Parts: sequence; structure tokens; C-alpha cells
Amino acid sequence: MAPVTSLTASVHQRLADALASALPEADGVDPLLRRSDRADFQANGILALAKKAKANPRELATQVVAQVTTGDVIKDVEVSGPGFLNITVTDKAITENLAARAADPEGRLGVPRAQNPGTTVIDYAQPNVAKEMHVGHLRSAVIGDSVVQLLEFTGENVVRRHHIGDWGTQFGMLIQYLDEHPHELDHKDAQVTGEEAMSNLDRLYKAARKFFDSDEEFKTRARRRVVDLQAGDPHTLAMWQKFVDESKIYFFSVFEKLDMEIRDADIVGESGYNDMLDETCRLLEESGVAVRSEGALCVFFDDIKGPDGNPVPLIVRKSDGGYGYAATDLSAIRDRVFNLKANSLIYVVDARQSLHFRMVFETARRAGWLNDDVKAYQLAFGTVLGKDGKPFKTREGETVKLVDLLDEAIDRASAVVREKAQDLSEGEIAERGAQVGIGAVKYADLSTSANRDYKFDLDQMVSLNGDTSVYLQYAYARIQSILRKAGEVRPAAHPELDLHEAERALGLHADAFAETVAEAAAEYAPHKMTAYLYQLASLFTSFYDKCPVIRPQPPKDVAENRLFLCDITARTLHQGMALLGIRTPERL
Ligand code: ARG
Repeated sequence: MAPVTSLTASVHQRLADALASALPEADGVDPLLRRSDRADFQANGILALAKKAKANPRELATQVVAQVTTGDVIKDVEVSGPGFLNITVTDKAITENLAARAADPEGRLGVPRAQNPGTTVIDYAQPNVAKEMHVGHLRSAVIGDSVVQLLEFTGENVVRRHHIGDWGTQFGMLIQYLDEHPHELDHKDAQVTGEEAMSNLDRLYKAARKFFDSDEEFKTRARRRVVDLQAGDPHTLAMWQKFVDESKIYFFSVFEKLDMEIRDADIVGESGYNDMLDETCRLLEESGVAVRSEGALCVFFDDIKGPDGNPVPLIVRKSDGGYGYAATDLSAIRDRVFNLKANSLIYVVDARQSLHFRMVFETARRAGWLNDDVKAYQLAFGTVLGKDGKPFKTREGETVKLVDLLDEAIDRASAVVREKAQDLSEGEIAERGAQVGIGAVKYADLSTSANRDYKFDLDQMVSLNGDTSVYLQYAYARIQSILRKAGEVRPAAHPELDLHEAERALGLHADAFAETVAEAAAEYAPHKMTAYLYQLASLFTSFYDKCPVIRPQPPKDVAENRLFLCDITARTLHQGMALLGIRTPERL
């Protein structure tokens, strides 16, 4: 089925045509159409056009109005103010457009797929091996997952990359310790939980650290182990693999709790680029992009300065020959551009790493790996703050463990669900509690634009009122309950019916779903989707207040049409929430 042309697009087209026939040189000029409170739409493009053509804007607007085809889509168009156009669309067009969306056999609500999709590699959900996941890892995972869903829905080819921290000097210490205490990672039984895996790692890390700090000989052995690891000594590599495997058990358990699909094949950590590091350095040095400085291989920038105002170089290889974070990231760019054939690279990483990425991207541009056709972008996110507005810490001043946070959210949400529950069993309460709690955490994260900090406030997050996922989930469940209660009367569109103001507002907004998807995907901005859905649910609430669906029972065709509006609202909510990684339970 062809994608459904939205009313905005239809009106836009008609206005552009009218502009062109009123003033031939206006061909291709944007009428600047937007939704408006005064009419359904307002077009402001005539002002600039009149200025350019040295014409009187109101006169030009009047001429344009005379050229607008009215009837099927546009009911009425009139000049307002200094030369704006106020446009009202027909009720029939609203209902027909929604009916076309509802009829999409693919269930995509008529949202188009890209004609010539590109390939985007997205780097997100990248915790560190042998370390606990904290609240910062939440944002990367949640934002990244939503951008993946949004892009895939528009038809983009998406390659996911979880660039986990699985390489570096700390592994020398860990491996050496494990080699000397070989049973520390053994499991009592075959079914290892994430919690067990983490407590093993944690215990081992602490013990190794204690040795390392107190025993000079161990320190030397540990340092030698780093060299063995980087040289690819098989026994050392096998030990390292144990750490990675153990950590993955833990990561997967956290991602499962987050209700997020992370695939093993997409986990390509820092170690995955080990074989490319030498060549990356050689290429950079040969092209003159990197130079030796005090034994290290560095890239310098005129315009990139550290907080102290001094130029900071990007160190690609340290003077001792070791490679760091920059070398792996530069190698990863080569892999993503030349092997994965990406056109866009997105990095969902904390804003505190922005300087690193600026330098890495600029280096890759100088080397010719990035250019106008292949772009890299850091989708930088802000810090999660506590209620006091300071970076989120436990009462003891430690970073908050992600798992504890998620468990607390689920507990709170379960309490809310239990309070409202009418016919839910204990099992259902637990399941819904998880869906509501995790949804609340994701929604709070996604509903502020990524680059801003936000306060982690569970009370607010699980509140039934206001801009929360719970509010949206309840709106969805309420519609499902209405549809159940309607019994024999089924949703059906009746384009011949006149619509109530509240029905029009809801219908027009539902029709704008495809545009919201396109915008949120193009700008990597899930918060545009949350804002859209919140408004959809609010418009539904006022529609349901003003327009009886079941009781008092309206005439059959009106009831069917209202049920149809309920249904398309629910389907839009469901689809939109899915693009945010949030479930919409059928009953709450
Ligand atoms: N593991 C890093 C951290 O926890 C994030 C990795 C970001 N991705 C990248 N390609 N550098 O901070």
C-alpha cells in the first residue's frame, strides 16, 4: 500500500500550487504551513514572498486565496492579519485520512519508508567489562535503543554497535589475579544469574586491587600480563575471555530488566579493533595527520583547547607504545565506514566525552575517512541529577547502581498498579509493575532533549498526572477497555459525519504521526515523539470528556465513528510507545 499523504502535506501542496499560479516566480516557495489555534493551519510564507516581489502582502494573499482549490480537502481559506492565511480542512478529509491510515495492511499507520535508505551505525549501550553498570549507562542504552527503533521504522539500514570497554591495563591485574586464584569465577550451578556474575566480578576486582596496591611483585607480574594480553598470548587471552563472558551474563541480565533486546553479535568492544591499531597509526603518520611528539603519536588542533586554554593533542599511541581510547575509536571509524559501508555514524555518549569525539572526528576527517558523504555525530547526553540538582549519588556518596534504581522504579510502579488494580491477579500486577516502572524510567529519560541534564525523581515519574509514560499507558488501557465494553458496536469510519471540535483536534493530531516519526528520526530526537504522544493522550482525554462514545449512547454511526477515533488513537499510542521502547499493557 502507498503511504498515506497527511493532511498537512495535502494542504501544503495545494497552497504551493496556488502560490505558483498567483505569482509565477513563487514556484517552489515554501508557504510555511503550521498547525494553528485560530484555524486548523496557518500559512505565513506570503509575507516574505511579498517583500521580495515588492507587493502588498494582503493583496497578494487575497490573490492566492482566489487560486486555492477548495472542496475535498480545504473547506475554507481566509486572509488574516498582515497577510497570513488561515486554513480549515473538511471533516470528511480528516476522517478519510485516518481511515486510510487504519487500513494500512502492514499496520504502519500509513507511515512511509525511505526511498533510498542509507546505512547508520549507532554506537550505544556500551558498559565496561568487570564493572558495575551505573546510571550513566542507562541514558546511552535508552536513547540509543529509541533512535534505533525510530530509524529502522523509517526504513534506514541500522547497524548496532555496543562498544564495550573490554580492553586496557586493568585487565593485566585481573587476569594475573585469576591465574593465581583459578577458581574464583567458578559457578556453583549451571544457571548463573546476572547478580551472581556481578558479585563474582566485584569480589575478584577488589581482591586483585588489594594485592596490586600492597604487593610490588604482584604489580610487576600484573604489568607483564598487560603486555602478554596485547601480544595475543593464547593463555592470557583465554583468561581475558572469562572476564568478558562473565560480564556479559551480567550485562544481559540488566538489559533484560530494561526490557531491551541487545544481541551478542552487535557487541564489538574496544578489543574488537585490536588488529587494526597498528595500521591506523601508520595511515595517520604517513598522511601527516599525526606526528611524533615526545615519543607519542599525536594529532594537534588549532582550535581545540582544554579547559585551561592550552591546546590538547589527541594521543593515538602513547610513548610506551600502548594504545588508548582514541586509537580504538579511530579504528572503529575505519571499520564502520569501509567495512560496514556506513553513511552516518552516531555515538550515544555522555556529553563529558565531547572533547574526545570532536578530536576523533576531526582526525578522521583529515585522514579522509569522514567527509560530506559520511558523517559522524555525537548524540551527547547530559547528566542524571538527584532531586537536589547534583549528580545522582547514593546517600553514602557513591554512584548509583543501575540495577538498584530499576528495582526501585519497579517497586514504586507496582504499588501504583496495585492501588488502581480492579481485576488483576498478583502475577499480572508484577508484570504490569515492571512494564510501568521501566516505561517510567525510559520515558523520563527520553522526554527531555538528550543534551540536557535531568532530575531523577521517581515520585514524579510514576505519577498518573502529567507528562509521564504512566499517563500514556493508562490512556491506552482505557481505550482498550472502552473497545471491550462497546460489545457489538465496532469501530468504523464515517466520513460523511460532521465532527465535534474535540474530534477534529484529536483527528488532526493523529494524522500528524508520520511527520513526527520523520522528524524525530531525522533529528535523532525521541523527545519529539514523547511530546507528540503526550499531546495525543491529552487530546484524547478532552475528546472523551466531551463526546460520549458508549453512554449516553449516541446514534450508531456516531458511536462507530467515535470508536474508530478511539481505536486509531490507541494504535498510534501503541506504535509511538514501541518506538520509545515502552510497552502498552492492554489492561492496567
Ligand atoms: N565504555 C564507555 C563508557 O562507559 C563508552 C563507550 C562509548 N563509545 C565509544 N565508541 N567510545 O564511558
